[in-house]
Amino acid sequence: VRAAVFASGTGSNFQAIMEADDQLCDIALLVCDKPSAAVIDKAKKFGVPTFIFNPKDFNSKADYERVLLEELRKASVSWIFLAGYMRIVGPVLLSEFPARIVNIHPSLLPDFPGLDAIGQAYEAGADTTGVTVHYIDDGIDTGPIIEQQEVPVYPDDTKEQLTDRVQQVEHKLYPQVIQRLVEANT
Ligand code: GRF
Repeated sequence: VRAAVFASGTGSNFQAIMEADDQLCDIALLVCDKPSAAVIDKAKKFGVPTFIFNPKDFNSKADYERVLLEELRKASVSWIFLAGYMRIVGPVLLSEFPARIVNIHPSLLPDFPGLDAIGQAYEAGADTTGVTVHYIDDGIDTGPIIEQQEVPVYPDDTKEQLTDRVQQVEHKLYPQVIQRLVEANT
């Protein structure tokens, strides 16, 4: 099974997916919308082909998504895993990959959707937060939930400590869920 990862940033989840060495799921393409993102070097290190684009070079989301669609077809991918992709996926991709685009979000959705979910939970004084893996729809962090895992927030946590704890859970959970999804759908 061939899949693409979409990422905009550091790529620690991309790295975790690659290191999980899933025998069934081949990450055949990294799509990145930020030419300076650190995830690009990680893809090179793992020998994963990259498609890098700048949304500013296009008139609309539909325009760049049609180009992405072309690349995804060339790479013969049937799944898209978002890993810190900082854009809303539009109808061009959603309609071509129904129930085949998955995201990871660092909170227990529907709590703390959107940007800096860990910071939101920290500032709110939550005593529990977590990680959600979900299908995407056209909203922000709103699609059907596949799996969630709780992460405790301790009273004396710094935001950095909480971030580390949440990310450690992400890096285990996402590769596991990907493996299960791919296995159940082949
Ligand atoms: C992760 O916390 C993920 O849940 C969120 O964006 C972050 C990406 O981090 N959607 P990284 O680029 O994988 O390190």
